[in-house]
Amino acid sequence: MVGGKWIGSSRNPARAEARREPRRGCSGDTTTEDRIDAPPVSTASDGTLVATTDDEASPTTASDGDVRPLRLRLWAEPTTAEIVAGVTTAVYSFGAEVIDGDPGSVTASGSYLGPTLHLQTGQRVQVEFENRLDDECIVHWHGLVVPQDQDGQPAEAVAPGALYDYDFTVTNDPGTYWYHPHPHMRTGEQVYRGLAGLIVIADTDGDLPDGDNDLSLVLQDRTIDADGELRYLSTMHDSMAGFVGDTLVTNGVADLEVSVRREPYRIRLLNGANSRTQYLTWSSGDAVHVVATDGNLLPETVTVDGLVVTPAQRSDLWIDFSTFEPGEHVELLTADTFVGAGGRSGMTLDSRTAATFVIEDTDPAPGTVPTTLGRPPTFGPDDAVNRDAPKQFILSTRRAAHRINDTQWEGRVVTDVETVEANTVELWEFVNQSPMPHPMHLHGEAFRVVSRTWDDDRLADAWTNISHGVIETGLRDTVLVWPGQRVQIAARFADHLGYFLYHCHILEHEDDGMMRNFLVV
Ligand code: C2O
Ligand code: CU
Ligand code: CU
Repeated sequence: MVGGKWIGSSRNPARAEARREPRRGCSGDTTTEDRIDAPPVSTASDGTLVATTDDEASPTTASDGDVRPLRLRLWAEPTTAEIVAGVTTAVYSFGAEVIDGDPGSVTASGSYLGPTLHLQTGQRVQVEFENRLDDECIVHWHGLVVPQDQDGQPAEAVAPGALYDYDFTVTNDPGTYWYHPHPHMRTGEQVYRGLAGLIVIADTDGDLPDGDNDLSLVLQDRTIDADGELRYLSTMHDSMAGFVGDTLVTNGVADLEVSVRREPYRIRLLNGANSRTQYLTWSSGDAVHVVATDGNLLPETVTVDGLVVTPAQRSDLWIDFSTFEPGEHVELLTADTFVGAGGRSGMTLDSRTAATFVIEDTDPAPGTVPTTLGRPPTFGPDDAVNRDAPKQFILSTRRAAHRINDTQWEGRVVTDVETVEANTVELWEFVNQSPMPHPMHLHGEAFRVVSRTWDDDRLADAWTNISHGVIETGLRDTVLVWPGQRVQIAARFADHLGYFLYHCHILEHEDDGMMRNFLVV
């Protein structure tokens, strides 16, 4: 195909022209390219709907008055890192530099993780992405609401050495988001080898700790062999259940220690693991205060004994270190959640340390748990156009393949239930008929979790082991669907027309094909 044409920006030809070529690598689905001048939706010979368009409704070139635009260079490259002290490991890593804009917009992670990108609501962001890997790649901004051609979908993956130019406006509220690659069948391995980074959209007001008291933790796991090399997918079980590494790696290093003053902190947590749904507690026995989930402030702080986070989910914590003594160690502990016999759920008793906070010798400056936080959008099931007839998405594992409605990845081919109207709310029901949990993610706007039900009461009982740690009072972009459950969500679809992904965020399931598109018309 001809490079550049797929950019499809009929509304902004100048922008399309400015792009350098060649742009992209291989991709099975040429539907969009072939039909770029056709009407937005048409029916393929097999009766499925196919779309063709870019988004007309949301200009990506304008910026809100005062927000300084940002231009970045971002690349993915092979390099080395010291994940375990004294051991050199070959990794992939994102690097970035500011071409134009606030130089503080990119802060190094100090590890294989990509730099944190500090963005602002209303900001125009231009990113020149360069794929320096020996593998196709594309970058997805997980949680950001952007047009189809800015979303970093598998169809946009670029070949080794090629470039992809992004140009979008940040419309999300302040919060914690992340970026990671999304080439089809390669995401799990690329993230595992190191390609992931945080996006922080700063609050401009509010009561939460900021500046030095605003920390981030990216929780991952890796298996590093005696030669210091990363091991990935050595057994069939790894691909079916999802890969679990034997070493906990936080912010890119094993045994992370962070020193903190005796003050309240905000800790932005990302579960960046490929497949591990974890249960987090404080070693001190203190309750866990959660102030935001998946980029959205909660209406009120939720306080729990332990917190469940699935892959890709973010949870922002509030903790007051003033209650500890100088020199004291406070550990963030993580246990694995599991599904046992008969769907019984639980977590392992042998929690391990994900990060250690060492209390500095400072004057204590106690704070109080913030109560009222944000005002997340209030849309819900009553706003759904299909209020009385939720669309069903059956999650299953058949013939050694993870499936959605008994289908797998088909590129830009969608069914009726996968076709939605812009600016509407729909009720979707994920029905998990497989023996393992699936954290289901929708690209685009965050959604509201409406209900969890069971066809079998015994499974409902089993869920109570971990349900206290599942926080869904705000919005989510990734929802845990436990075996035997029906989870209903009210999803709102923005005005970006075209194809967007929904998939299991266990990356081995996604790569196996437990990923499809929905089409916004
Ligand atoms: Cu984290 Cu399809 O994304
Ligand atoms: Cu995403
Ligand atoms: Cu899954």
